[in-house]
Amino acid sequence: MKILVTGGAGFIGSHIVDLLIENGHDVTILDNLSTGNEKNINNSAKFINGDILDKNLDLTGFECVIHEAAQINVRTSVEDPILDANINILGTINILEKMKEYGVKKIIFSSSGGAVYGEPKYLPVDEKHDVNPLSPYGLSKFCAEEYIKLYNRLYNIEYCILRYSNVYGKRQDPLGEAGVISIFIDKMKKGESPIIYGNGNQTRDFVNVKDVSKANLMALNWKNEIVNIGSGKETSVNELFKIISSEVGFDKNPIYEKERDGEVYRIYIDYNYAKSLGWIPEVEMDNGIKDI
Ligand SMILES: NC(=O)c1ccc[n+]([C@@H]2O[C@H](COP(=O)([O-])OP(=O)(O)OC[C@H]3O[C@@H](n4cnc5c(N)ncnc54)[C@H](O)[C@@H]3O)[C@@H](O)[C@H]2O)c1
Repeated sequence: MKILVTGGAGFIGSHIVDLLIENGHDVTILDNLSTGNEKNINNSAKFINGDILDKNLDLTGFECVIHEAAQINVRTSVEDPILDANINILGTINILEKMKEYGVKKIIFSSSGGAVYGEPKYLPVDEKHDVNPLSPYGLSKFCAEEYIKLYNRLYNIEYCILRYSNVYGKRQDPLGEAGVISIFIDKMKKGESPIIYGNGNQTRDFVNVKDVSKANLMALNWKNEIVNIGSGKETSVNELFKIISSEVGFDKNPIYEKERDGEVYRIYIDYNYAKSLGWIPEVEMDNGIKDI
């Protein structure tokens, strides 16, 4: 299939591109390299150094768009909600408009199970849980989801919305702030103590990027679905610190600092719906961490 992967030079997008190519797809990457890296680009993919907001994008011949490009930093979204909305909402609308113009039939969208639901009313959080984001980022992801569903109703563009939990794995930028696992590993390998915001009892659901890529590949055959993609396991940041310390052989304590705005306290997600579609997470966290 001829597929456009936006954000395909980034962490998750580049793994998706690799898996698509392994499976014989014809892949083009659209990425402005704002947080992505040329080193991540698969040699067998075509690369367009461009912006999802570009009004002149040419989507001739594409059958599907896998839309990963985004502003992904929760704190940036709190500080500059207009920048966040511009990329995540208007950028998605521009992609949808171009899909309509060029007759592209399907979009697979990377949403966030960690950000759209807000503070859970029950755990694990399934797809029927209310949407109550606590940050502009969570809201911009949800808004993009709603535009995608609207374009399905109006123009019959098929969709699959994947709500990832916290994704980790190789190529995640340790200098960003989204990937606590890569940040901890990077700090510990340098002999420096990682910072834990709050008391460290906050929990997250960590899913490996290989499992996320597999979900995107399978989603080529899922039609008009909203699907949680996570491990279904709840891990506190303190537990995570211990697991990584023992993998890396780090023996210092973490530094505790004030908790940050816009982040939920506890979350882990229910992936039973994905399971009913044939997807399950396969990478255990200790193996996933060893692989980084
Ligand atoms: N990392 C996670 O834990 C996680 C969790 C849930 C959802 N997501 C979503 O998954 C997607 C990929 O995230 P990631 O962690 O790989 O982040 P990333 O920053 O590594 O990847 C994003 C990519 O998009 C590109 N990009 C950004 N703005 C662009 C623009 N205007 N035009 C073209 N390209 C642009 C960047 O250069 C980068 O290569 C994002 O949509 C993110 O919201 C990530």
